[in-house]
Order: sequence, then structure tokens, then C-alpha cells
Amino acid sequence: MAIRMEAVPGPDKLSPSSVTQPDSLPSQTQEMAELEAIGPLRIKQADQKQTVLVTGHAGFIGFHTAKALLERGDKVIGFDSMNNHYDTRLKRERLTMLEEIAKATGSKYHSVRADLCDGKELHDCLETYKVQRVIHLAGQTDKFLSHDKPAECVQNNINSFVSLLEACRHFKIHHLTYASSHAVYGAGFQKPMSERDSANHPQRLDAATQRACELMAHSYSHLFNLPTTGLRFFSVYGPWGRPDSALFAFTKRILEGKPIQIYNDGRNTRDYTYITDLVEAILRASDTPAEPNPVWLVELPDQATSNAPWRILNVGNSLPVSIEDLIAALELALEKTAVKEYITGPILEKSQSCADTTMLTAATGFAPATSIQAGVNSFVQWYRAFYQL
Ligand SMILES: NC(=O)c1ccc[n+]([C@@H]2O[C@H](COP(=O)([O-])OP(=O)(O)OC[C@H]3O[C@@H](n4cnc5c(N)ncnc54)[C@H](O)[C@@H]3O)[C@@H](O)[C@H]2O)c1
Repeated sequence: MAIRMEAVPGPDKLSPSSVTQPDSLPSQTQEMAELEAIGPLRIKQADQKQTVLVTGHAGFIGFHTAKALLERGDKVIGFDSMNNHYDTRLKRERLTMLEEIAKATGSKYHSVRADLCDGKELHDCLETYKVQRVIHLAGQTDKFLSHDKPAECVQNNINSFVSLLEACRHFKIHHLTYASSHAVYGAGFQKPMSERDSANHPQRLDAATQRACELMAHSYSHLFNLPTTGLRFFSVYGPWGRPDSALFAFTKRILEGKPIQIYNDGRNTRDYTYITDLVEAILRASDTPAEPNPVWLVELPDQATSNAPWRILNVGNSLPVSIEDLIAALELALEKTAVKEYITGPILEKSQSCADTTMLTAATGFAPATSIQAGVNSFVQWYRAFYQL
């Protein structure tokens, strides 16, 4: 399958709102769209088209979310600094695909390249495009980088979020939905993690910043009646994924015939969430703004809701997969055997996770359920097509 790469503009040429749109949907887009569809999204068309700001739209999850919004007819304003924490070619390709989808669907799309910490840029963006809802998926995601450059992590996760909260309250945004992570629970859970459990002992700095964002969102929900929903994602994977994820790195090395390093002596067990499921949950949550919990008690506070329009929802598969089972699924999809090297560390990679999705189901009528083999097959199909392997 031929994938067009050469016509992609460099990051310096991707100026705000400067989308150049091709005359027709090229075969790459059609093929990629087919690859991604394990099952079609079951999200209903929005009753009324919305203007949605998607932050981090050049990133893995932001791209898929923007794509789904465009496909159902919403107007999308993407906002991303295009940082170079991983291969920016992948980010540029995602933006090109969004432009093509906007053209093919007739949905309105503008791409803004700026840093969320630049409050003026953000303010102008919300004002110019009359944004109604925000889905915040920008952030510093690399846990090792967060450890090495803590100030940068705080800047990209906390300062940027304060900037966003300020803009949301100023423009009376109908609903702010934002990414958080299972990592806020800390490691060592022996049972499905529930939003009603305490999340006050995160073990990594990036997780602590995400927990801080949840708490800051509560202040804004309380003080300014801003409806906010924090979604705790559980290890997301799928086509157009992040090169720094284990699945991506394993695939590359297995295809190259190189050994793969298995952290924590192979004891990690994670709840893996397929991207299409995640996007469905994001859109459904965004479509139902958070409301105050009428039976919330200050004496016995529910951790997941509030007397303000604020809530937290897990988004996971509720089916933990051992690292050995993930590799087995990958070997099957690649038709190649992995050469495994077990290592004890690093401490940042210790992980046991499993989502309790009772609250997600109650709030949205949906919970992720794609099997790991189906999801890995789809990822491998995309990977081979994208890298022409
Ligand atoms: N992928 C997962 O498995 C996973 C799991 C849990 C939580 N999350 C969270 O979901 C969110 C999205 O993750 P992803 O996997 O799509 O990551 P990603 O790195 O692919 O995308 C994040 C995007 O945010 C942009 N960005 C970073 N700082 C910015 C800033 N200050 N201003 C504007 N743009 C900025 C980056 O350029 C990037 O394109 C992150 O907050 C992440 O922590 C992801």
C-alpha cells in the first residue's frame, strides 16, 4: 500500500488557520479510515452542530477525537504547539488527514499552532471562532521526560490548564472535558480502580500534575459554575499511536529482528483501551455536560462528583492484560516471534491497572470492550501501511 509522505509541509509551514485542502479524498485517507474501523463509532449525530476546541489535535488522542467530531459534522478548532517530543512527521500527517476529512465531509476546521500557556492566543481563538465546548487533550505525556524535566512538565500540564480554565470561564464554555490518567491512583491496586477511591497518592510527577488539574477544575466548577468532566484514560493504543508507547516500540523492534526489553521482569498488567472505544467515550461524555450531584454530602464526600458541576470518569477496558499476553497478541499479528529481554526496572514503569467503568456506563451508556487481539491486529495493519513494511 503506497502512503504519500513527500507532500507533507514542514511544521514551520503549518500556520494557524492556513489549511490547504485537496480537491478529493486521496486513497491514503480512505485506506486509513477503513483500517481504523474495527467497528463503526456508535456515537449518535449531535442534535445540534457544536463548535468544539480540541487541544492537542496533532497528538494521538486529539487527532482521533477531532476526526470523529468532523465526521459527525461538528466544527473543530484544533490547538496544538506541535512539540517535538516524538517524530513530528507523524503529527504533520495527522493534521494533513484532518484537513482531508474536513474537505470530504464539508465540516469546518481550523488548525491553530500555539502554546496553551499563551493566554492571549487562546483568548483570541475562543473569541474568533465562538467556541462552545472544549475537549482538552494536550499535555506532556512522556513519563521519563516529566521526570527529567519537571518544570517543563508543570508548564505543559498545569500552567497550560490554568490558562485554559481562565479562557473557559471568560467565554462561558458549555462544557470542558479533559484528559486525566489512571496513573493518579498510584500503583499497587489489587482491584478495579474506581473514581470513588482516593487518588491522593500518585507516584509520578506527570500523574501528580493530572491530579492537580482535576482539583483545579473543581475550583472553577464551584466558583464559576463551569461544567467540567475529567476522564481518566487507561493505556490507550491503536492506529496513529505514540512512538514512545510500548506497543509501538515492540512492533518496530520485532520487525527489525531486535530484542525487546520487558520492564519489571514481565510482571506488569495493564488495562489497554482501544482508541475507537476511547473516542466514543470522550464524545459521549462531552455531549452530556457535568451537573451537580443533588445528593452530594460535604460530611461524606463522594470523590467522583460534587455539589458543583464537576465529575471524574474512568475510561478503560476493565480487562487487564499481562505484558506477556500483549506480546503474544503482537507476535500473532506480526507473524514473528519476539526476542525478549527481561529487566527489573525502571521504577517509573511499575504498573498494575484495571478500570472500574460502572460510572462511565451510567453516565454515557457505553464502556470500551474491544479485545486486545482485535485492537493489536488493527494497529499492526496501520503500522505496516504507514511505514510501508
Ligand atoms: N495515550 C495514553 O495512553 C494516555 C493515557 C493516560 C492519559 N493520557 C493523556 O491524554 C492526553 C493526550 O495524550 P496523547 O497520547 O494523545 O499524547 P500526544 O503526546 O500524542 O499528544 C499531546 C499533544 O499535546 C500537545 N501539547 C503539549 N503541550 C502543549 C501546550 N502547552 N500547548 C499546546 N499543545 C501542547 C503536543 O504537541 C501533542 O501534540 C495527555 O494529557 C495524556 O497525558 C494519555
